[in-house]
Amino acid sequence: MNYDTLFSKVVSRSKASAIRELLKVIARPDIISFAGGLPAPELFPVKEVSAILQDVMRTHSKEALQYGTTEGQQVLKTELVKLLKETEHVSVTPEEILIVSASQQALDMSARMFVNEGDVIITANPTYLGALQAFQVAGADIIGVDSDEQGLLPEALEQQLLSLKKQGRLCKFIYVVPDFQNPTGTTIPEERRVQILDLAKKYNTFILEDSPYRQIRFEGKPPRTFLELDNNHGNVLTMFTFSKVFVPGFRLGFLVGPKEVIAKYVILKQAMDLCTSPFLQLVAAQYLHRGLLAQHITEIVTCYRAKRDLMLKTLHQYMPQGVTWTKPEGGLFLWLTLPKHMNATQLLSKAIENKVAFVAGVDFYPKLNVYNDMRLNFSYPDAAQLVEGVKRLAQTIKENL
Ligand SMILES: Cc1ncc(COP(=O)(O)O)c(C=O)c1O
Repeated sequence: MNYDTLFSKVVSRSKASAIRELLKVIARPDIISFAGGLPAPELFPVKEVSAILQDVMRTHSKEALQYGTTEGQQVLKTELVKLLKETEHVSVTPEEILIVSASQQALDMSARMFVNEGDVIITANPTYLGALQAFQVAGADIIGVDSDEQGLLPEALEQQLLSLKKQGRLCKFIYVVPDFQNPTGTTIPEERRVQILDLAKKYNTFILEDSPYRQIRFEGKPPRTFLELDNNHGNVLTMFTFSKVFVPGFRLGFLVGPKEVIAKYVILKQAMDLCTSPFLQLVAAQYLHRGLLAQHITEIVTCYRAKRDLMLKTLHQYMPQGVTWTKPEGGLFLWLTLPKHMNATQLLSKAIENKVAFVAGVDFYPKLNVYNDMRLNFSYPDAAQLVEGVKRLAQTIKENL
């Protein structure tokens, strides 16, 4: 049987994620990995989750084990309404929230909701690889707009929007990861967010805000979310996830937006998976209800801040001249730039020989071929691995300068 003649266009457009492929190669225990975006497993709240699992089975087993509504379990939505009010000063109704199987599903759905083959989506240059993958599958024409150490540049964005307008093309949405961006670790300041939002309004498009790292802030004051800045004017859809602040294994997240738009997402989700696991939603609702999330975030922030500090200090100590890196105020990543003539993709195989791994930057650009950056994760390795890994990486760079 030759399946090649039978596959759909979607399959032919699907590209394996460089990161997920790499994670398979570097699973060897002797390799120190800065490649994944994984939370530190030693911080998982195992005891608390075990207790809640048992309580949910004792008290709500019928609801937990049954199919749920596509919109999501009401108890979880009620907790999320409270959470958004308390932490983000945003008032939403349950109808403005859709529970999703983590934010990757919201990205996939957003592409299906808005993109016909060839439609334009604007992202920052560089941006989250998994979003690019989801948008590519939908056949989007992804246009990257340059960014600096404060994220997407409004001037470059306006230039692009104007050029599209002149061509009679619509930008379906502007995708942003405004807080401690994956991959660069940069945060868009509030003033710039206002400018970006104004541009979305001016050019009749909306902001797709994806903020998995927002609560992992080590210092400084958080700028308001695009969601809050929009003040219910309907120009922003925002997704949050439990993956980075609680557990990724639950595959739980939520999308917030105007209720008419959320209702359309619900219909799409019906066809995709009927519903997100009711059992895990009930567990997450209890976790929130007991006030455990805030407590857990305090713990992970303390741990990741120490890891970030250690990585910055060690980079400073060992990296050769000409190598620079971002200094993120939160999140899980920093972005390291090699001298222009170096190629991080080629360096990776040498690094793996030296038993350290990272993700080469080129995969985070929708179109540009920029080869001298890499993403480093600091949340997963322990302190000794962080130091040793940076030493090995610095050594590899020096050997190939
Ligand atoms: C910016 C961004 N969006 C979305 C995701 C997907 O996360 P999840 O599907 O676990 O919520 C990630 C994961 O690394 C991410 O960095």
